[in-house]
Amino acid sequence: MPDVTLTTLQGLKQKGEKIVMLTCYDATFARTACEAGVEMLLIGDSLGMVLQGHDSTLPVSVADMAYHTASVKRGNRGAMIVADLPFMANATVEQTLANSATLMQAGAHMIKLEGAGWLAESIRLLAERGIPVCAHMGLTPQAVNLFGGYKVQGREQAQAEQMLADARALQAAGAAMLLLECVPSELATRISQAVRIPVIGIGAGSGTDGQVLVLHDMLGLSLSGRVPKFVKDFMGETGSIPAAIAAYVRAVKSVEFPAAEHGFSA
Ligand code: KIV
Repeated sequence: MPDVTLTTLQGLKQKGEKIVMLTCYDATFARTACEAGVEMLLIGDSLGMVLQGHDSTLPVSVADMAYHTASVKRGNRGAMIVADLPFMANATVEQTLANSATLMQAGAHMIKLEGAGWLAESIRLLAERGIPVCAHMGLTPQAVNLFGGYKVQGREQAQAEQMLADARALQAAGAAMLLLECVPSELATRISQAVRIPVIGIGAGSGTDGQVLVLHDMLGLSLSGRVPKFVKDFMGETGSIPAAIAAYVRAVKSVEFPAAEHGFSA
């Protein structure tokens, strides 16, 4: 696969072809995902839960993220690598710039920040310095204690309008991509249509420009036994990891996944 760049992603959005992203934490899975056609590899701070066994993403450090980003880079064959800034790594502007630089030097092509409109200043500073940013909105797991659990965001009209305004503001600040987690499908579609930049969804319906899942979830692996509604187990129907990832790629590209049952209503 030729290297996936921002131009590639923009082109996919313009022609209405869905973008396939998957979380990935090591070299072997990076190679396997690339061979299956995954276009974006996300080193998510979900690694705190699925690799390290914590009950949230809060204990993950920048060093953890850099280690796994460097591992993914060694196995990557052309996908765009996106790395999460973990909890409190963007507490100040200075920390945001320094920690983003660490992850870019470890091999990331884009940095993902969790938040909302208040991210605008950081996004502007990062973009000015040549770092593409994905703004993760909606259910932002680093704020689980503020939300009182992993709950759908944007169900109320005022919150939905604010999310739409924030999406526009972050695009104007220079965000290269948005990621919407656990947002009503109708709202996610509205936001995707309102911005020029690609919007990736998880638990956000099929109207976004692309999809992401946590690798372990789509392979049917769960430490807690609680499987979110938006997850589909692709391993069960295929029987091998490469085949499961290839089935996920096909299902996203053909818009068979996510189905209505994987989304949320307002
Ligand atoms: O950390 C992660 O894996 C993520 C996805 C859930 C989008 O942010």
